Amino acid sequence: MDHKTNATLLFSLLFFVTHLTNALSKDLCNQNDKNTLLKIKKSLNNPRYLASWDPESDCCAWNYLECGDTTANRRVISLTMISAQISGQIPPEVGDLPYLQKLVFRKITNLTGQIPHSIAKLKYLRFFRLSWTNVTGPVPEFLSQLINLVYLNLSFNELSGSIPSSLSLLPNLSYLDLSRNKLTGTIPESFGSFPGEVPDLFLSHNQLSGSIPKSLGNLDFNRIDLSRNKFVGDASMLFGANKTTFCIDLSRNMFQFDLYRAEIPNTFGILDLNHNGITGSIPVQWTETPLQIFNVSYNRLCGRIPTGGKLQTFDSYAYFHNKCLCGAPLDRCK
Ligand SMILES: *[C@@H]1O[C@H](CO)[C@@H](O)[C@H](O)[C@H]1NC(C)=O
Ligand SMILES: *[C@@H]1O[C@H](CO)[C@@H](O)[C@H](O)[C@H]1NC(C)=O
Ligand SMILES: *[C@@H]1O[C@H](CO)[C@@H](O)[C@H](O)[C@H]1NC(C)=O
Ligand SMILES: *[C@@H]1O[C@H](CO)[C@@H](O)[C@H](O)[C@H]1NC(C)=O
Ligand SMILES: *[C@@H]1O[C@H](CO)[C@@H](O)[C@H](O)[C@H]1NC(C)=O
Ligand SMILES: *[C@@H]1O[C@H](CO)[C@@H](O)[C@H](O)[C@H]1NC(C)=O
Repeated sequence: MDHKTNATLLFSLLFFVTHLTNALSKDLCNQNDKNTLLKIKKSLNNPRYLASWDPESDCCAWNYLECGDTTANRRVISLTMISAQISGQIPPEVGDLPYLQKLVFRKITNLTGQIPHSIAKLKYLRFFRLSWTNVTGPVPEFLSQLINLVYLNLSFNELSGSIPSSLSLLPNLSYLDLSRNKLTGTIPESFGSFPGEVPDLFLSHNQLSGSIPKSLGNLDFNRIDLSRNKFVGDASMLFGANKTTFCIDLSRNMFQFDLYRAEIPNTFGILDLNHNGITGSIPVQWTETPLQIFNVSYNRLCGRIPTGGKLQTFDSYAYFHNKCLCGAPLDRCK
C-alpha cells in the first residue's frame, strides 16, 4: 500500500468524524430562529412559561413550538402559547419567524396592545388563532396579505372598528371567526364574493349593524352565525333549498323578513332565529329537514306550526312569544 493512499484515507476519515461530531452537537434549530425566539422571550419579560427556552439547548426541543421535520426545512413552523401567565404585547419579532405556518395565542388574559404589523410578513401562515386575550385595536387590513390563511380566529378579544373588506381576498380561507369583540359597522359588500371556497363565518356578539349585503345570497355557507348584533332588514337570501347550509344563527338582532321565503336544504341541522322581528309563517317544507337545534321564539310569526319531521320534537320554548303561532307544541289553533 502506498503512503499517499493511506494519507488520503486517514484524512477522509478524520474529515468524516469531525463532520459527524459537528452535526451531532449542532442544533437542529436554525440559528436565526433561535435568536428570534430568544428576543420574543425577552420581549415578554422572560416569563416562567418559557423556562424551557434555554439558549444552551436545541430550540426545536423547546416547548410550545415545532420545527419542520425535513432536513431541508428545520425552521420553526408552529408557535402555540395557551393559558400562559404572560403579560405584555404580542412581540413584533414573531414576524421574523419566516416559515411559521401556525400561530396561536389563546387564553392569555394579560396579553394587550394591538396585533403587530410584522405579522403581515408571515407569508406561509395558514392557521392564526388569537383568542381569549385583551388585545385591542382593529382587525388589521394587512391580514389580507396572508394569502395562505385557511383559518383565522380572532374571537373573544377586545378588537374594535369595522371588518376590513379586504379579508374577502383571502383565496383559501375556510374559517373566519371574529365573534365576541367590539366590532362596529356593516358586513362588507365584498363578502359576497370569496374567490375560493366559502368560509364558515362567525360574527356573533359584536355591535355590527345595518342590513346584510344582498350578495351574501350568492354564497352557499356551511355555517353562518350573525347572532347578538344589531342587524336589520332582510336575511332571507341566506336561505335556499338548493344550498348545502348546515347552520344559520341570526338570533338577537332586529331582522325583519317574511319567513315564507326561507326554504332550507335537507342537510340543515341548526336554525336559531330567536329575538328578531320576523313575520310570516313556518314553511311546511321545514318538516323535511333533520333539524337538531331550532328556535324561532320572540318574533312576529303567525299561523299553524306544520306537523311532522322534527318540528314537534322541540318544546314550546322554541316557539313562544310570537304573534299568533299555534298548533303543537303550542296551543291548538282556534
Ligand atoms: C395580569 O396582570 C396583573 C397586573 O399586572 C397581575 O396581577 C396578574 O397576576 C396577571 N395575571 C396573569 C394571569 O398573568
Ligand atoms: C381582560 O382583562 C380583564 C381584567 O384584567 C379580565 O377580567 C378579563 O378576563 C380579560 N379578558 C380575557 C378575555 O382574558
Ligand atoms: C389554496 O389551496 C389549494 C388547494 O389546497 C392550493 O393548490 C393552492 O396553492 C392554495 N393557494 C394558496 C394561495 O395558498
Ligand atoms: C375560535 O376560538 C374560540 C375560542 O377559542 C372557539 O370557541 C371557537 O370554536 C373557534 N372558532 C372556530 C371557527 O374554530
Ligand atoms: C333548485 O334546483 C332545482 C332542481 O335542480 C331547480 O329546478 C330549481 O330552480 C332550483 N331553485 C333555485 C331557487 O335555484
Ligand atoms: C329559545 O330561545 C329563547 C329565547 O332566548 C329561550 O328562552 C328558549 O329557552 C329557547 N328554546 C329552546 C328550545 O332552545
